[in-house]
Order: sequence, then C-alpha cells, then structure tokens
Amino acid sequence: MTLPRIRFDAGRATEPLSGFSSEPHELWVEVGFGGGEHAEALAATHPWAALIACEVFENGLCSMLGRLVPEDAEDTAPLPENLRLWDDDARDLLRMLPDASVARLFLMFPDPWPKLRHLKRRFVHPALLPELARIVRPGGLWRIASDDPTYQAWVTEVLAGQNFFDVPPPATERPDGWPPTRYEAKALKAGRAPLYWELTRATAAR
Ligand SMILES: C[S@@+](CC[C@H](N)C(=O)[O-])C[C@H]1O[C@@H](n2cnc3c(N)ncnc32)[C@H](O)[C@@H]1O
Repeated sequence: MTLPRIRFDAGRATEPLSGFSSEPHELWVEVGFGGGEHAEALAATHPWAALIACEVFENGLCSMLGRLVPEDAEDTAPLPENLRLWDDDARDLLRMLPDASVARLFLMFPDPWPKLRHLKRRFVHPALLPELARIVRPGGLWRIASDDPTYQAWVTEVLAGQNFFDVPPPATERPDGWPPTRYEAKALKAGRAPLYWELTRATAAR
C-alpha cells in the first residue's frame, strides 16, 4: 500500500514541515491535483520545497500513485521525500495550517460549479479568502488557472473585491515555470482559452 506511506499526517498540520523526511525550506500546497502530473513536476524540480498535494477523487489518487511506484513495489519503492498527499477535502487541511505557513498555493483548473445553486462550492470564494490570506505568508504566491469563462469572470470579480492579495492581470499563455496539467491539455485541445493568475499575498497588514 503506497498511500499510507505518502499520506500527510494530520497530526503534523500545526508544524507541517515536520511531516516530511527531507529538510525542506518552505511549504507549498496544491488543491485538486487531478492526475498529479503538475504536483509531481513541482516536487521534482523544487527539492527544497515541501509540497502537500490534495485530491479527493479516487481515480486521481490512483493515477498519481500508479506513476510514483511500480505495481509490484508498492511497499518498498522510494517515494519523493518532499511530496505528501492529502486525500480529503483540501479545506480541512488549510484550516489546520498555522498562520503564514504556506509559501505557494496552487489551484489549477478548479471545478467551475457553473450552476448558481452550487456557487458556495467554488474554491475561489469571498467566504474562503480570509482563511487563504491567513495561511499564505506575506509575499507568498497563489497561482490559479481556469479555462471556464464563467469561472474566469467569477475569479476576476471576487479578486477585485478583496485586498488580501495583489492581483496583476492574468496571462493568456501558461507562464514559464508553470508545469502543464492534464486538464489544461484537454481544454486547449477543445479550443478553450485558459487564464493564468499569479497573486501575491500583500505584505501590508490587511
Ligand atoms: C477540473 S479538475 C483539475 C485537475 C488538475 N488540477 C488538472 O488541472 O488537471 C479539479 C480537481 O479538483 C478536485 N477537488 C475539487 N475540490 C477539492 C477539494 N476541496 N479538495 C481536494 N480536491 C478537490 C477534484 O476532485 C478534481 O479532481
């Protein structure tokens, strides 16, 4: 069983770097990693960062675990020391993390929840922003990508109404240093036009 070996221990959430066997310098969190390609690439190219990658969808978890270890070596294959998985609602993890503990937060192609009655399920939401602002350290980054026009308009509106994060205009091409994602590839193939935001947690006390 690979998952128990790589699952982030909730008991470590108040001191999250202690949940890693390497000696990472800072904590990163990815919400909704899907098949996990983006999270895996981040961890591989930034060994000094500790990444907790969150996903609730079992198929996504299986896809990630299947790539990390060969089928016949689930109990023994070495795992990335700077990657841990959270196989539950990411919001439950975020609520447990200490203030200013996250250096980078990643939200790549979140579910758009287009119906009005599902609005509350959108991850970019005024109700969740104070919690995200609490855990992202001043100067820390929050990357968001979306290909859904309704969600893009929603992100623009929500971000215009807050001052926790500085919000430059989004890029229309994936910026250098952002690994691709599986969902993004599908969106581009279908002719949709993603937007890519890179927010910075404001340094002034807000
Ligand atoms: C549209 S998919 C995008 C997956 C991946 N980021 C990509 O770009 O290929 C959104 C993913 O977020 C996951 N997700 C949604 N809400 C979540 C939450 N609260 N905690 C953890 N994962 C979540 C879903 O299960 C789904 O796999």
